[in-house]
Amino acid sequence: MIDVEKIRNDFPMFANNPGLIYFDSAATSLKPQCVIDAVTRFYTHHTSNVHRGDYDIAALNDRLYDGCRKKVAGFINCDPEEVIYTHNISHSLNQVSLGLAHTLKQGDVVLTSMAEHASDLLPWFALARDHGIRIEYVPTDSQANISVSDFEKAMHEGVRIVALAHVTNVLGSVNPIKEIAEIAHRYGAIVVVDGAQAVPHMKVDVKDLDVDFYGFSAHKMCGPGGVGVLYGKKQLLNDLVPVFEGGDMNARFNKDGEVIYKNPPVRFEAGTPNIEGIIGMGAAIDYLMSIGMDEIEAYEKQLRAYFVEKMKQLDNIELLNPDNASGPITFNAKGVFAQDAAGYLASQNIAVRSGNHCAKILHEITGTDQSIRASLYFYNTKEEVDRFVKAAAEISLENAVGIFF
Ligand SMILES: Cc1ncc(COP(=O)(O)O)c(C=O)c1O
Repeated sequence: MIDVEKIRNDFPMFANNPGLIYFDSAATSLKPQCVIDAVTRFYTHHTSNVHRGDYDIAALNDRLYDGCRKKVAGFINCDPEEVIYTHNISHSLNQVSLGLAHTLKQGDVVLTSMAEHASDLLPWFALARDHGIRIEYVPTDSQANISVSDFEKAMHEGVRIVALAHVTNVLGSVNPIKEIAEIAHRYGAIVVVDGAQAVPHMKVDVKDLDVDFYGFSAHKMCGPGGVGVLYGKKQLLNDLVPVFEGGDMNARFNKDGEVIYKNPPVRFEAGTPNIEGIIGMGAAIDYLMSIGMDEIEAYEKQLRAYFVEKMKQLDNIELLNPDNASGPITFNAKGVFAQDAAGYLASQNIAVRSGNHCAKILHEITGTDQSIRASLYFYNTKEEVDRFVKAAAEISLENAVGIFF
């Protein structure tokens, strides 16, 4: 069971911002001291590049850097050679779309949903623009849930890629990825999953899900910014073309431009990587695993259910996703522009996000292109929820006038 008071002591942001309610973890999470220390130690004790130096400190960083692949592999259950370091999930998804473009032909279909984040739509839109790929959308219910039977109806021989979030970023719908992958594979399609809002909050097992590609960002799971992961099935990585070319990813080249690439995953990691960030991601994984992903998921679900029940009692609030069991609590205050309402919450020392949350065609599902998103993590408390609900009850046209920074 989570000891939230003990956990909060691990996060210096709380001590440094007394009274702050941070309900914006879907945008980025807070960082525990152990992650900050791991990054700082790289700067103060063992700075060097990786895969390039022939001295002790460089060897230490090689071990830490490549050792983190094993941590990621253990965290999501794959082989370390299937873990590609990227800069974020956006980079991961662009690497997949651009890297697979040569395997697609005009008229091939990418099947996705209207609840996706821009990072899981624009890379496919670019293929539509540049390669004549067609985009199709799986229908969802009003809280962005996809049923297995609707997915099965939407599948056909022309679908070459299925691109869906594991958990959507605005409404927190959890897609039945294992069942989806099973159906998609019957048609020979490749399954690409945006795990940005799943990996921080639940145990993810890519082998059990049997997905082909799966990406996430470290900064949403207690890790540093500028680091992401792309998992790819070993047999598919050889067909994936690297998006970036440069140092480290090549084994040899000559003046005629003939290049021999290194094997995956280094083939996809051109140039000096974010070494300190990757070491910090390793520390974040150790930290999350020391708490337990199942414990984190159970705690958050309980807190969310409590939050939803309280919000349901407010006459001035319309919830967009009351029936989803995980993810953010997303709502509008009746008649109030979302950003103005968020401004009022900010005046009460509450951090949330408002607007369309980068899911710019989600309004096709919800009928509104603005909302307030309160996103929790395992360091949030019932007391914070109570304070939040009290402030939410006070949002009105008169007091919600935005704030000026
Ligand atoms: C579901 C989802 N996908 C992709 C992204 C993009 O993440 P990043 O900016 O770290 O690339 C986000 C970020 O909010 C997200 O929630």
